[in-house]
Amino acid sequence: MLIRKATDLTYADVTPKPVYLNRRKFLQAMSIASATAVLSRRLYEFAAPSQTALAATKFSGLIKSPFSTTEKENSFENVTHYNNFYEFGTDKSDPAKNAQNFNISNWVVSVEGDVAKPRKLSMDEILKIAPLEERIYRHRCVEAWSIVVPWIGFSFSNLVKLVEPTPKAQFVAFQSYYDPRQMPQGRWAGIAFPYVEGLRLDEAMSPLTFLCVGMYEESLPNQDGAPVRMVIPWKYGFKSIKSLVKIKFQSKMPPTTWNIANPQEYGFYSNVNPNVPNPRYSQARERRLGEFFMRNTLMFNGYGDQVASLYNGMDLKKYY
Ligand code: MTE
Repeated sequence: MLIRKATDLTYADVTPKPVYLNRRKFLQAMSIASATAVLSRRLYEFAAPSQTALAATKFSGLIKSPFSTTEKENSFENVTHYNNFYEFGTDKSDPAKNAQNFNISNWVVSVEGDVAKPRKLSMDEILKIAPLEERIYRHRCVEAWSIVVPWIGFSFSNLVKLVEPTPKAQFVAFQSYYDPRQMPQGRWAGIAFPYVEGLRLDEAMSPLTFLCVGMYEESLPNQDGAPVRMVIPWKYGFKSIKSLVKIKFQSKMPPTTWNIANPQEYGFYSNVNPNVPNPRYSQARERRLGEFFMRNTLMFNGYGDQVASLYNGMDLKKYY
């Protein structure tokens, strides 16, 4: 596996995980340590590496974020096998199975709308916007489960500054990739695609709002939103849109997938709030994946000190 400083990485350097795992097994079987260089290159060629299946880049030299929680992290196994990614099926175990061959090569994110400097960013360009940090965040789903994940990325505000929003820009609209040929399970998901989300511009500028390119020191597994997603830790998990292809700055509040699907249950804001129940799920308590006992849910998922002021004077029951 290639290990580079985060700043030196390019997506072309990626060694697909199945390839290096095969290589490791093969070399162990042969027990010929000295043949490593030649054989591994051969095997790499024979294995016909594509950039699709579980392409894993190991990140090093990550900055430890002061915004990280000290709570115990969930296991990589947990976080990659209990997912919501409806394009790949609605069962929690579906994305791990169905997203394996998702093609993320030549990924481009269009940043457009009310900005002075619109950009079409490749993954290499995204990785260079700001130094990569490891941020360990609590991630709370509206279905009352939570996880703790060491994400990798940087504050979204770095990207905002790059494109220079004009005064008209009051909101940011996000859009996921959607290709029914690669995501046939999406047809039965019961929600419209492409998946869309949104934030007010001041929410997007919060230092907590995170543009995420990896987790557990590696690039994002496909089921977790490869190659680039949002993580907004004080909001319910569905705001954290995966596999981003479009970011648009605009004057109007953008439509959001779950609000379109069920406006009674899912509002635009969707801040974690133990006092405002969802019609189907009380939000007062939650289960951390891997734990037996439930715990109390924290207002703004425990990030109130940093974000409560964004909602001063707002009735959070009305603006749920
Ligand atoms: N993004 C897309 N494109 N499609 C989805 O179905 N599900 C959302 C969010 N982002 C979803 C998405 C929901 S409901 C949750 S809870 C989180 O992703 C889950 O993130 P995780 O699987 O990394 O825990």
